[in-house]
Amino acid sequence: MGGKLVRAPVDFSQPAKILDSGTADGTWLLDLATSLPPLSAGTHEFVGTDLNLAPFPQSTPQNVTFTVQNIKKPWPESQHDQFDLVHQRLTILGAGPNPSPSISHLYSIVKPGGWVQISEGTMDFPPDIVNEDRTPAYSDMLRLM
Ligand SMILES: C[S@@+](CC[C@H](N)C(=O)[O-])C[C@H]1O[C@@H](n2cnc3c(N)ncnc32)[C@H](O)[C@@H]1O
Repeated sequence: MGGKLVRAPVDFSQPAKILDSGTADGTWLLDLATSLPPLSAGTHEFVGTDLNLAPFPQSTPQNVTFTVQNIKKPWPESQHDQFDLVHQRLTILGAGPNPSPSISHLYSIVKPGGWVQISEGTMDFPPDIVNEDRTPAYSDMLRLM
């Protein structure tokens, strides 16, 4: 990522609404929240969503919230056209064999003119690092994927 959490050209000089889908413990969201320079007026709003609420942080800054959302299901109407940036990292496997509807759901919640940023790994590892003998469980997982 060239050292950047956000590659989309979002204007963070104005209050922005950012959603992180498949957020887990909110690592990306909280990294972004703590790395953006403070605004002279207003605050950014950060929302993390995941199917599994267990890893959500117990205490968060006031402008950060976490909520349950399955990427396979449409987002509630109240969330449509709301976000300047919708981000999802390493989560598309949870969409199952046909990920298109899950991607469309992400587009439903971005504001007109906003951005969707999706990052997935190539899972292309050097054979001396990942191979049947050295990493059998990981090799199984890659085969399943
Ligand atoms: C590999 S973790 C990535 C966590 C985080 N995005 C990151 O990069 O640090 C995948 C996350 O996707 C979530 N996930 C899997 N299937 C999902 C689904 N159908 N809807 C929402 N979240 C899902 C998992 O619960 C898990 O937190």
